[in-house]
Amino acid sequence: MISVKLPDLKEAKKRTKEKVEYSSVSLISSDKFIGKHYFLRTYGCQMNEHDSEEMKGILEHLGMIPTDDLLLADVIVLNTCAIRENAHDKVFGYLGRIKHLKKERPDVIVAIGGCMSQEPRIAEEIKSRHPYVNIVFGTHNIHELGKLLLDASVGNQDIEVSSIEGSVYEGITYQRDSSITAWVNIIYGCDKFCTYCIVPYTRGKERSRKLEEIIQEVNLLKQQGYQEVTLLGQNVNAYGKDFQDGTDFAMLLEAVAKTNIPRIRFVTSHPWDFTDEMIRIISLYSNVMPYIHLPVQSGSSRILKLMGRRYTKEEYLSLFWKMKERIPGVAITTDIIVGFPGETEEDFLETLDVVETCKFDGAYTFIFSPRVGTPAALMKDDTPKEEKERRLQRLNERVNFYSKQNNEKLVGKTVPVLILGVSEKDSSRVYGYTDTMKLVNVEAGHDTIGKIIDVLILDAKSFSLDGKEVISEKV
Ligand code: 5AD
Ligand code: SF4
Repeated sequence: MISVKLPDLKEAKKRTKEKVEYSSVSLISSDKFIGKHYFLRTYGCQMNEHDSEEMKGILEHLGMIPTDDLLLADVIVLNTCAIRENAHDKVFGYLGRIKHLKKERPDVIVAIGGCMSQEPRIAEEIKSRHPYVNIVFGTHNIHELGKLLLDASVGNQDIEVSSIEGSVYEGITYQRDSSITAWVNIIYGCDKFCTYCIVPYTRGKERSRKLEEIIQEVNLLKQQGYQEVTLLGQNVNAYGKDFQDGTDFAMLLEAVAKTNIPRIRFVTSHPWDFTDEMIRIISLYSNVMPYIHLPVQSGSSRILKLMGRRYTKEEYLSLFWKMKERIPGVAITTDIIVGFPGETEEDFLETLDVVETCKFDGAYTFIFSPRVGTPAALMKDDTPKEEKERRLQRLNERVNFYSKQNNEKLVGKTVPVLILGVSEKDSSRVYGYTDTMKLVNVEAGHDTIGKIIDVLILDAKSFSLDGKEVISEKV
């Protein structure tokens, strides 16, 4: 039997006044999959990484065992991303490998979830061109993965993607990747509709989790020994706006700070929603890390307007300086898109000017990628690909320069580092992050993993630091 419920872009665009539904989910049990292996691959952002932890929770509750070996897998799950075209290409490239595997082992169950499944043309393409895929599920029905798997195990094909504005589910069981740092969702979806971005369509409307639920989750994580939580949302500072009772991100952040969990981070912030009170709370609590990811996207006010970003270059800069003044030692990173439709050399020079002014601690840089269904995909774009690549290269050269310069400022200083594990390249060292989110490889014993230790910074590279543990003499 084939059950098909395809996504619908018109539905996905809707933002009604209807109340968000808050429901609780429970795990489905069955002995059908006990001892079987699952292979899960995640593409994209932190939100997807965290969604994968929910999928792992479901799969492991069914008694399944994770494997990194595709050939060993009984169930293959791809959690996909739709933000740029190359994310698509990667998934479809990988599907080619899976197709071969399915020829040899037709009983392997293949499931595709995540943002790509929320796009009508992609769901159609999978249905017609990749019929060996057993399950297509979306970002709104991850909790149904167990049921869909059981269905597929009796030979059914399920394409179940809804384009509802979205609900908020509580009671989710996560199989977390780390026992030291944890993601905590605070707000789902996005209502900003930046003209280049697919996220408001794939993830639905902005809807916040109840403050008490978030605090309960953070308290539980703290009891379990977690050292750090990262509050997650496409737009964290819009937190609470949908309640219309005055609750906002500053209030939530303060309540999380008061749990006394050692470290608190949050991503991603939209400049338009950043208030003075949020800045005050960040500077007031020592367990709120002095690190803000504040995407600028472009330095040209003209392009920012076309992007629908709701701020000018000057407004961004004034917020930036306010943060630098009021939050001691704050590190600020950003996202930048080059080659937006109609971006001229002058517009691009404005972007470079922002980089020269802000000297960001780091930046993720991208070439504009048209997404079907978004307004920017229909805008006239006559800048040649080679020119866009040249701009990206020029930008990256400056971004890397300042990233290294900021890292160099730490050489000779002793800073607290939360140690997360053994260094990949050198097992005699461990690695972790400073409070400003800088990666450090540290000469220290493995017994420091999970602890915040003092590290003397010895050397700086563009994307990481080297250091050694400083053991304070007890008097
Ligand atoms: N093309 C290029 N980059 C994009 N981003 C979002 N949509 C697009 C697109 N269509 C970038 C933005 C955003 C980051 C997560 O991805 O910079 O902040
Ligand atoms: Fe996309 Fe803009 Fe929403 Fe960020 S704020 S997810 S860029 S629409």
